[in-house]
This record gives sequence, C-alpha cells and structure tokens, in this order.
Amino acid sequence: MNKITDISSLRKVIDNWRQAGESVALVPTMGNLHKGHMNLVSLAHEHAERVVVSLFVNPTQFHPGEDFADYPRTLATDVRRLARSRVDILFAPSTEEMYPEGSEQMTSVSVQALSEIFCGAARPGHFDGVTSVVCRLFNIVAPDVAVFGQKDYQQLVILRRMASDLHIPVKIIAGPTQREKSGLAMSSRNQYLSKEEQKAAPTIYWALADCRQQLLDGQRDFDRLEAEGLDRLHAASLDPEFFAIREAADLSPPQADSRRLVILTAARLGAARLIDNVLVALEPV
Ligand code: PAJ
Repeated sequence: MNKITDISSLRKVIDNWRQAGESVALVPTMGNLHKGHMNLVSLAHEHAERVVVSLFVNPTQFHPGEDFADYPRTLATDVRRLARSRVDILFAPSTEEMYPEGSEQMTSVSVQALSEIFCGAARPGHFDGVTSVVCRLFNIVAPDVAVFGQKDYQQLVILRRMASDLHIPVKIIAGPTQREKSGLAMSSRNQYLSKEEQKAAPTIYWALADCRQQLLDGQRDFDRLEAEGLDRLHAASLDPEFFAIREAADLSPPQADSRRLVILTAARLGAARLIDNVLVALEPV
C-alpha cells in the first residue's frame, strides 16, 4: 500500500491507473477504523480495480465544543489494517493540504434543508463541513465509485444529493451497518461509553427493530410509533433527540402508501451521542 499525503503525488498515481484503463473506488474515512469501515473497503474492491481510502479528521465538520481534539487517532493500526485489505493508496492529507487558504473563508458546499434537520439541527454546520470536504475529495480523486456507510444515513442522502446537484460523475454505493453482537452499531465514538452505558446503548437498535416489525405487521400510525420509540429510549435512561419515520429516498414525511421507509434516531448517553437507523421495505397492501 502506498501512503500519500499530497494531492499532486496522488493525482500522478491515479492518472497512471486511468491510462491503463483501470477504475477507481474511494472510501472516505476519519480513521480509527473498525469492521464497519473495513466492510466498505471490501465493497469498494467489488466495484473497482483500484481502491483509495482517505483518512482525514476533518475539522470543518466539528463545531466548537465538539470532540475534534479528542477524536480517536490510531494511524499506525489503521495503516496495518488497510495494507492487509489490499488497499492501493491511503490518502492521509494534512489540514493545510486540504484547506490551503484556511477554512474560515473557504468555498463551502451546502445541501440546503436536508442539512438542517435531524443531526443537522443538533450539530449546526456539521453537514456543510461534510459536503465541503467530500466534494474536495471527489475533485482530488475523481473516483468512479465512492462507498459510504448506511450507518450515517442522513449523511448518505445528503452526499447523494450533492453529487446529483453538482453533476459529479460518481456512483455512490452504500454499505450495510456493521453491528456488535449486542446490536449496537459500531462507531469510533462507542469508546466514550462506560461499562454501564454499554449495557443501555443497544436499546437504540432494538427500539428501531421493534418499530420496523410493527410497520411490517401493517401498523401505519407513524406518530404513535415515533412516540413509543422515544418512550423506550427514555425508559433505558437514554436522552433521545429524535425518533422519526421518513421516506428512505429523501427523508420527507412518509405517505400512507410509502414503500421504502427509514427509521432514524439519535440519543445522548453520557459523553456519547449515538445515531442509528434501519430501512423498511413494505409490501404493497
Ligand atoms: P467516519 O465516521 O470515519 O466514517 C467513514 C465511513 O464509514 C462513513 O461512510 C460511515 O457511514 C461508515 N461507517 C461508520 N460506522 C459504520 C458501521 N458501523 N457500519 C457501516 N459503515 C460505517 O463519516 C465520516 O467518517 C465522515 O463524515 C466523512 C464521510 C469521512 C467526511 O469527513
């Protein structure tokens, strides 16, 4: 595996691949890699001949007071895992390489409305940071395919919208959420949980799974199902921000005849903010 930190060296290698007719997949990450990330790397190999993983803890998606300084950085272990997974290039730029003029007056990419609801309401500016950095990565790598996790469902919907609105010729592929045996979605931030909190945390998944089952059983009282989900999280001593049933394609409110739904939730537990979601494919009635 080739570890590259500057854009011009990266472009040279990718140009050579292109001249040889090879396709390129990009997997953007902030490092501290776990099975969720590594599964995206496997998917990337299925869709392209060459795989680039980017590792950049992007300062513009953290707002003041968030965990940017404390975000777990485990470069040596990440490099070993990626090399074992036959990744061609690890692109690990510095902040100066990504934002040469600084980020205060940077060119920002913003997907309006979608970036302001749910996680965007709790973390103002967060998604503008995500779209601003992923747009730069798309311009730097020009991948045929980019792979993102379903775990961050709102992020996925926003990035699809960005690529479509800006006519970026990239195919976006979603990888399924990887979970602990308990059901808890894997996340770099799970390490902020105490032993006691680790026991309560999987409730977030089971509340989603039960809600999905009720929808599959024909229940269509969305307000009631959302209220039940919130109650269940409160009962497990979690502090929920939202528990919402939405259209999977664009996060708009569901209609009675909706077929593809997503149930999204976020909750605070001690020092951690946990997010999770499940998709629901309904049969026509
Ligand atoms: P990060 O949190 O490192 O996640 C990188 C990718 O891994 C994202 O696409 C995320 O959805 C996916 N992922 C995380 N946990 C997962 C799990 N348990 N199962 C499946 N996929 C999982 O998301 C980001 O970084 C950043 O916002 C980024 C897109 C890199 C922009 O900075």
